[in-house]
Amino acid sequence: MAAITAAERYAAVRTQTEALCRPLLPEDTVVQPIIDVSPPKWHLAHTTWFFETFLLKEHLPGYRVYHPQYAYLFNSYYNSLGSRVNRADRGTISRPPLADVYAYRAYVDEHMQQLLAPYRAVADAPFAEVLELGLQHEQQHQELLVTDIKYILSTNPLAPSYWGEQNVVVPTTAAAPAPAWLQVPGGLSTIGYQPETGDPSGFCFDNELGAHTVYVEPFQVQNRLVTNAEYLQFVEAGGYADFRYWLGEGWDLVQQQGWQAPLYWVQQPDGSWHRFTHHGLQPLDPAAPVTHISFYEADAYAHWAGARLPTEQEWEVAARHFAPEGMAGQFLESNRFDPAPVPASADPTQCHQLLGDCWEWTYSAYHPYPGYQKAPGALGEYNGKFMINQMVLRGGSCATPLSHIRLSYRNFFHPDKRWQYTGIRLVK
Ligand code: AVJ
Ligand code: FE
Repeated sequence: MAAITAAERYAAVRTQTEALCRPLLPEDTVVQPIIDVSPPKWHLAHTTWFFETFLLKEHLPGYRVYHPQYAYLFNSYYNSLGSRVNRADRGTISRPPLADVYAYRAYVDEHMQQLLAPYRAVADAPFAEVLELGLQHEQQHQELLVTDIKYILSTNPLAPSYWGEQNVVVPTTAAAPAPAWLQVPGGLSTIGYQPETGDPSGFCFDNELGAHTVYVEPFQVQNRLVTNAEYLQFVEAGGYADFRYWLGEGWDLVQQQGWQAPLYWVQQPDGSWHRFTHHGLQPLDPAAPVTHISFYEADAYAHWAGARLPTEQEWEVAARHFAPEGMAGQFLESNRFDPAPVPASADPTQCHQLLGDCWEWTYSAYHPYPGYQKAPGALGEYNGKFMINQMVLRGGSCATPLSHIRLSYRNFFHPDKRWQYTGIRLVK
C-alpha cells in the first residue's frame, strides 16, 4: 500500500477537526465561559490562521490572505506577529459568523492542497518541519476542542448531550481490578525524545529535546490509574475538609472555590454521585479513572493514600520500562471522550493506561531540559515562554489523538486547572 501523501495527511487532520465540531449548534461555538476555554469557532479559525501565517504566506507564491483582520482576531499569543484580541475576550466576538470561518477553512485548505500537491510525503517538502508542526498544532487543538466543548455544555442548565441523544444511560462497570505495585529499577536512564529507541513518530516538540541522562532511586509504580471508587473514598473520608492532606495553595483554593469533589461531579438527592459527560449527566463509573482534578487534588489524594505523585523523570523511566504493554488506553479516535476502566482480565504484572485515558500530573515543574533551545522567530514563542509556574503532565488522554502522543511528550498546565482530562498515577 502506498504511503499517505502530504496532501492526504493534511486533509485527514483538518477533516478530523471539523468532524469534532459537526454535532455543535452555531450558538455552542461562540461562548467562552472561563478564560481557559476558547470558543470552538475560535479554535476552527486559529488553527487555519496557523497554516496561513506559517506556510501559505511564506511558501505559496502570490498567496493573498483571506481577510486582513483575521490575524488580529485569531493570533493566540505570538507577540512577534503583532497585537490581537485579548484571550479573555474571545467569547465576545460574534462576527465573523461560523459560516465565514468554515469558508476561511475551505479557502486555506484549497491553497494548502496546491502547496502540497508536489510532495509524496510530509518529509519530502522543503518546509516539512513547519508543516508537521502545523498538523501537530491542529491535533493539540482537537484535544482542546473536546475539553472546551465539554465545559461549554456543562455550564448550560439544560446539561445537553453533545451527541444529541435523550436520556441515554452509559453502562458502568462494577469494579476495577485491585491495583498492584510494580517495581521499577533505579539507576541511570535517558529521557527526552530519542528517535532511535522506538518513539513511533519522527516528530517531537522542542520542549522534549535535550535528551539527557537522569538518575532515579528505585521506586514502585501503581499498575493502573486511580479510579473514581478510590477517589470517592477520599471524598467521603472528608478529604476536602482536612487541611492536613493539602498544599497551602491547594487548601486556599478548596476554601475559596468551595471544591468538594472533582470538576463535573454532582451529588444527587439520594447521596449518589453523577458527573457531566459528552452524554450529559451520567452516574459515576466506579471502575473508571478519576479525571478533571487539579494538581492540588491529585497531590492531596496521594498524600491521603500514603503514596506520592511521580516526578516526570520517574514517569518516563517507568513508561520506557513497561512500554509497549501499557499502551492500550482510550484516545480521541474512540469518540468515547471519557477514560475507560482497565478490564478485569488485565495482566496485573503490566503497567496499564500509561498512554491514553488521562494526563498524569507529575510533581515536576515545567522547565527547559538542559540543552533546550527555542526556535528563532515567532515559532520560538510556541512552548518556551511558558516554562514557568506550570506542572508537567504525561501520557495523553482520551481526548488526545493516538498519532499525537509519545513517551517523551510533555504537556503543561497551571496546578489549579481541572478542565483537561487529568488523573492520578501513584508511586512510592
Ligand atoms: C500544550 C496544551 C498547554 O493549550 O496552549 C495550542 C497547546 N500550543 N497552541 C495550549 C497549544 C499552541 C498548549 N498546551
Ligand atoms: Fe494554538
